[in-house]
Amino acid sequence: MKSFYITTAIDYANGDPHLGHAYEKVLTDVLARFRRLMGDRVHFLTGLDEHGQKVQQSARKRGIEPIELCNEAADAFQGLCRRLNVSNDDFIRTTEERHKQVVRSILQDLFDRGEIYLSEYKGYYSARAEQFLQEKDKVDGAWPEIYGEVVEISESNYFFRLGKYQDWLIEHIKSHPDFIFPRFRAKQVLEFLKEPINDLCISRPKERLEWGISLPFDENYVTYVWFDALVNYISAVGYGTAEFEKRWPVDYHVIGKDILVPPHAVYWPIMLKAIGVEMPKGLLVHGWWLTSGQKMSKSTGEVVDPLNLVDQFGADAFRYFVTREMNVGQDSEFSVELYMSRYNSDLANDLGNLLNRVLTMTPRYCGETFPPMSISEDPETELEAVWQDTETRVVELYEELQFHKGLELAFNFIRSINRYAEQRSPWKLAKSEDARDREIMETALTLMAEALRRAVGLLEPVMPDTTARVYELLGYKSEAAWRDRIKASQALVGSKIGEKTILFPRPQKED
Ligand code: MSP
Repeated sequence: MKSFYITTAIDYANGDPHLGHAYEKVLTDVLARFRRLMGDRVHFLTGLDEHGQKVQQSARKRGIEPIELCNEAADAFQGLCRRLNVSNDDFIRTTEERHKQVVRSILQDLFDRGEIYLSEYKGYYSARAEQFLQEKDKVDGAWPEIYGEVVEISESNYFFRLGKYQDWLIEHIKSHPDFIFPRFRAKQVLEFLKEPINDLCISRPKERLEWGISLPFDENYVTYVWFDALVNYISAVGYGTAEFEKRWPVDYHVIGKDILVPPHAVYWPIMLKAIGVEMPKGLLVHGWWLTSGQKMSKSTGEVVDPLNLVDQFGADAFRYFVTREMNVGQDSEFSVELYMSRYNSDLANDLGNLLNRVLTMTPRYCGETFPPMSISEDPETELEAVWQDTETRVVELYEELQFHKGLELAFNFIRSINRYAEQRSPWKLAKSEDARDREIMETALTLMAEALRRAVGLLEPVMPDTTARVYELLGYKSEAAWRDRIKASQALVGSKIGEKTILFPRPQKED
């Protein structure tokens, strides 16, 4: 069985989960679930980035130990995963021993081989960004707001020889067009690599930062955040043991566009190259959720608590909205109005009404089970043709990571089923005494249910609970593989129809 390893970025422990974090987990989960349904053995990793100055400062402010703050954050982020129905197989925390031990062994190895060296550093430093700056980072002669206070410092630090791998990296990116998705982002990386890259400062003296992993060869320093955080992708899957070979190379690191250059597209490949580990197969780079054109983040104060939306409308509605609305790679604007409009039109109306029609009319006109389908005329064959097209195309689109388009097609198909229902109008035929009318009515009701069953099959990676609930309400049970399940026809004839249930209730109007 093919193994498929996928990761999210690990979120900073210093801050509450917001829509951006929730989106990344859902996107990764949709892909993980899709691959599982396609028969791959998936390993899905997410986690928490716990070290660094901000955590140390926040903990100090609250008079607690950094680890206590991290424990709270781990609860919050793990809670988020559960509430969003995210099917991660593992959750790594960078304070765990399994991680620290790998970071230390890599550092020691690189140091022993002269890839890490000690040097005097003089220059500008931003505590807010935890980053050294250069003159070229100034905008119109001043430090941009995001860096906060910038001070000049001079200190000894350890450096990793990034520079010597620059040509190799350029060549790797050029010769592996699938390394960065969407492809246009690779241009951005190559643009960055046109200038010579500096070696990477990988340490902080403990007087400035205690909350980190000590360098194994110099206890006076801890390692810089990125060198610590990126290693999670290999420490979590047993780097250094036989286990590792089963998982690596990773299929996708799913990340936001803000952490592509330089961390994931420059530091990480070079770190792996230096320790002799194969390159990741792909970086899946998504865009940002914006509110009023601004990146949603803690510092702008414009944050949406995803859990409120999940509380109000359920995890599947949230998962549907973010997957349907975001073209992977682009930015997308969030607003409650857009959320409600998708919820009402697609979920409550198109999908909800169809289910409602099936669950109400079938028992009323046909009894407890779905009747046989004996008619096959234009309306039936047309619907079948739309289905054939939809099924093939949606799976292709999912393979191409075009989930928003896949969902669009799946919902177009749902609308076709509703049109078919209007065309056949079983509620009118029910009034007829004619035997043929009855056959058409029975065919129409079962076919609507069959088509609905297939449509929700296509939604399974995105809305797993909805698929399971609809299957249950249609009395459908099957152990078959995903594509065989959704391809099956006549699967419902004779199965028992469930109680009328509203899956996506319309929100109560507030007075
Ligand atoms: N800790 C680092 C990542 C280390 S990975 C080895 C970090 N953390 S973060 O909490 O700031 O961001 C985590 C992920 O959430 C990133 O991939 C980031 O792009 C994503 N998002 C944060 N805000 C976002 C939006 N407003 N919209 C979409 N995703 C964004 O960076």
